[in-house]
Amino acid sequence: MISYGKQYIDSKDISAVRKVLLSDWLTQGPLISKFELELKKYFGAKYCSVVSNGTAALHLAGLALGWKKGDIILTSPISFLATSNCILYSGATPDFIDIDKTNYNIDTNKLEDKLKKLKSSSKKVVAVIATDYAGNPCNWKYLKQLATKYNFILINDNCHAIGATYYNDKSYAVKYADIVTHSYHPVKNITTGEGGAILTNNREIFEKVNTLRSHGIEKNSKEKISRKGLWHYEMHELGYNYRITDIQCALGISQLKKINKFIKRKREIAKIYDEQFSEDSIFKIPKVEKNYGHAYHLYPLQINFGKESEKKNFFKKLYNNKIKLQVHYIPIHLQPYYRKNYGFKKGDYPIAENFYKREVSIPIYFSLKKKEIYKVINKIKFFLRNK
Ligand SMILES: Cc1ncc(COP(=O)(O)O)c(C=O)c1O
Repeated sequence: MISYGKQYIDSKDISAVRKVLLSDWLTQGPLISKFELELKKYFGAKYCSVVSNGTAALHLAGLALGWKKGDIILTSPISFLATSNCILYSGATPDFIDIDKTNYNIDTNKLEDKLKKLKSSSKKVVAVIATDYAGNPCNWKYLKQLATKYNFILINDNCHAIGATYYNDKSYAVKYADIVTHSYHPVKNITTGEGGAILTNNREIFEKVNTLRSHGIEKNSKEKISRKGLWHYEMHELGYNYRITDIQCALGISQLKKINKFIKRKREIAKIYDEQFSEDSIFKIPKVEKNYGHAYHLYPLQINFGKESEKKNFFKKLYNNKIKLQVHYIPIHLQPYYRKNYGFKKGDYPIAENFYKREVSIPIYFSLKKKEIYKVINKIKFFLRNK
């Protein structure tokens, strides 16, 4: 089966993991801080906390910022559920901004309109979570300007854009956002099986996250240990077990060494798709603006299906031909939970809803062979021609 995304594991990854399995430390050993160090170096961050998954990273971000009931946090409806579920965990209020037609990220003009409107009714937005959807960076310069002007915290859900560049800078994310979150789920650009991280240049946020990822237990100072005993530990705040293992970190360190190679190959595949799908107006390829370096976690192809049932049939036909496509995403505001509890409804975010009707994530991963790329292209074109 050719899937929309897939991990690439080589013998170096396997021997790195094997080495940990034969060592004294399966978890909370030396590879936690080693992986954090490598991530800090690659992404240009002052601080990094690796955690059990990307959802935990987002949850910890909200906890570290002290979100509470009544706080308004804005995000995009075209992202994974975790991006906005983390707002609900703290009892804060989620609201959405429609996506930009061109880059499928949060529409920064609409965001500014909303900020103005909320300000005039004395409502305060405490944070904006912007996802670099599919691996294409948001308009971070504009987002930063808005964050300064309207005084809110910026979070980059960077799960898709691991390895992307913005104005030639691969460490752009922590420069613009106060908190950056990663996921290392197998379909992401590098993997640890399950895993994630929080990157930041803010020491206070980092220290909070570090404590909260392990039950809220604070590290003992030397003075306290000698006063209270070697076994002593203290909890001052309610935390969670969001720790990652050394086994996973060994894989992460090994995968990070291959990230440039992974992105290079994904860009080559995207170029072939761009060429092949731009000749027919039934398709719309993802546009990459000047100064933006797409990381292609996904290749979101838009197809004008006409009738809604056609998309369903098209997926079935490709599946029967061993090509497993996916759709990213069902707009979050249309999920039954969000409709029922927050009153969102169809028509609230028309650009996102229209994008959802047309979007198809087609296979893009490091080990995808040339023959398979052309099989995908030919089958897509064939089944659209022969409905
Ligand atoms: C944009 C986005 N945010 C958050 C997550 C959550 O990450 P995880 O699956 O590691 O919890 C994902 C993963 O699918 C994602 O795509």
